[in-house]
Amino acid sequence: MALWHGQARLSIAGLELFQPVPQNAADPGAARRFLRRLLGRSLDGGAHCHDDEAMPRLAIYQPDIPQNTGTMLRLAACLGVPVEIIEPAAFDVSDRNLRRSGMDYIQHVTITRHISWRAFEAWRQEAGGRLVLATTKGAIPYADFTYRPDDVVLVGRESAGVPEEVHAAADARILIPMQPGMRSLNVAVTAAMILGESLRQTRSFPQPDTINP
Ligand SMILES: C[S@@+](CC[C@H](N)C(=O)[O-])C[C@H]1O[C@@H](n2cnc3c(N)ncnc32)[C@H](O)[C@@H]1O
Repeated sequence: MALWHGQARLSIAGLELFQPVPQNAADPGAARRFLRRLLGRSLDGGAHCHDDEAMPRLAIYQPDIPQNTGTMLRLAACLGVPVEIIEPAAFDVSDRNLRRSGMDYIQHVTITRHISWRAFEAWRQEAGGRLVLATTKGAIPYADFTYRPDDVVLVGRESAGVPEEVHAAADARILIPMQPGMRSLNVAVTAAMILGESLRQTRSFPQPDTINP
């Protein structure tokens, strides 16, 4: 484990975890919650946020466009949603590079990098939770779907979506209905709409007392 610009970084067998260090180090509760999130998350792979409660998380499949990933990381930072990045990506998704690109929000989001789809699936088998794929070939309109707190919402690559193997592995396939003739939404817009609905249903939005304390 290493401390890096206000974040703790932990690497275990292909997984890389970045966890913001609490600003208020004098607050023993903050330190305790921080350690519980860090160790609980990295050792048992569970999805814990807002202290012990599970909440939906976002998985990004082999991202192509840094700006979209940056937008999704900022979204996740603001909403307190953990992010899984499934590599290979078309650009360097290391903490150092994301930070160099000016993604200052990165220190407020928990990111786990998975070196491959297979590594991600192995993690998910351990962690549990359904894989909910956002796809233009989805069967269920996203607002009609019933989300669970431990769902992993997966968005596909900008250039090619996801391959059939990933499609088949999903527990559910949801879509955002569009006008006839429209191909797709921007991936970050997709993530925002679906996370918004899933956090609303699971009552996982940040609590008022944690907003601008
Ligand atoms: C730009 S789209 C990919 C388009 C790609 N050509 C394809 O055939 O899938 C990137 C990702 O955004 C998500 N997406 C975009 N529009 C969507 C929609 N209307 N419903 C659900 N997901 C959508 C999907 O996860 C998709 O893989």
